[in-house]
Amino acid sequence: MVDRWESAFLRVLDGSVEQVPPVWLMRQAGRYLPEYREIRGRVGSVLDLCFAPKLAAEVTLQPIRRFGFDVAILFSDILVVPHALGRRVCFVANEGPRLDPIRSPAELADIEAEADAAVLAPVYETVALVKAALPRNVALLGFCGAPWTVATYMIAGKSTPDQAPARLFAYQHPEAFERLIDILVAASVEYLSGQFQAGVDAVQIFDTWAGILPPAEFQRWCVAPTRRIVTALRQQRPGARIIGFPRGAGTMLESYAQALELNAVGLDWTIDRKFARERVQSRAAVQGNLDPLALVAGGAALDREVDAVLAAFSGRPFVFNLGHGILPNTPIPHVEQMLRRIRGR
Ligand code: CP3
Repeated sequence: MVDRWESAFLRVLDGSVEQVPPVWLMRQAGRYLPEYREIRGRVGSVLDLCFAPKLAAEVTLQPIRRFGFDVAILFSDILVVPHALGRRVCFVANEGPRLDPIRSPAELADIEAEADAAVLAPVYETVALVKAALPRNVALLGFCGAPWTVATYMIAGKSTPDQAPARLFAYQHPEAFERLIDILVAASVEYLSGQFQAGVDAVQIFDTWAGILPPAEFQRWCVAPTRRIVTALRQQRPGARIIGFPRGAGTMLESYAQALELNAVGLDWTIDRKFARERVQSRAAVQGNLDPLALVAGGAALDREVDAVLAAFSGRPFVFNLGHGILPNTPIPHVEQMLRRIRGR
């Protein structure tokens, strides 16, 4: 394990305030990097890359070498979990993920109750390879999708603008939907636990579609299942460091931070910064919230937005990041400009 005294990121997760915040970017291993595209071109799909430990370790390390980020995020995908539950998962170029949709409770019947450990084993191998190659001051972050977000893809079979199929399914068949969530809670605990065992220093739970739910459904389908994952992980590993990122949750972030004893809460770029500082950062470290488009824009707009993020969250535990994944059309010099602005050199 990385010693917390050597990693600014782990110190922040433990509640410390850093003069210069640690920084990493969601989707930092991705298509904006030529070296990523080169390796990506050698394999058939994202999923093949996730299950090829040497290549996955290499793409995990690429952004660390190039930019010196404080955190390496494991290269994998949230959809490896449905794949391990026996669902077909593929990625269509320029369109995103495709799964067999689930249209009725009957179609839930053939989902395995437990994830196939052999399917996920290569991911743990990637963790071990990355861990062995990382400098001691760079922490390794594992992750999974939150049950709600993973369920939205499993029900719709793809990304939709508002993941209406899962919302409708949850209203029409709450018991069947609950069963799917239970399966995903158990599989996520198993998956994150395997990542910790293989060497990650912390994990992040991505709830990309949290913000489309009304408050009561947000509590039932986002907060409660995430809480069960956090509790189970900490029972196995007291002190396990966990970040939650309920994208789009807005003012619901306050109850999220209150209900879950997380080390950090992710902030997207739409949140009111004063609200986040007062109601969220008072309970946990926060991580975010630069608009990914400001990084595409560069120039004075980028400087101004970086300064605004720093001004809002300095003086309390804070990890600099984007408010969502880095966009494929982001110019590399803009990432360098951002880092100079944050680190003051
Ligand atoms: O952050 C990192 O660098 C680690 C790798 C990572 C990937 N997916 C690899 C990937 C992480 C953390 C994820 C998480 C993920 N995957 C989320 C949650 C975070 C978020 O962005 O909302 C979600 C919803 C998914 C599901 C997923 N995977 C979608 C919707 C897509 C297609 C959209 C797209 O950007 O193309 C993917 C494909 C995917 N997963 C890519 C990468 C780098 C891009 C495709 C490619 O390289 O061919």
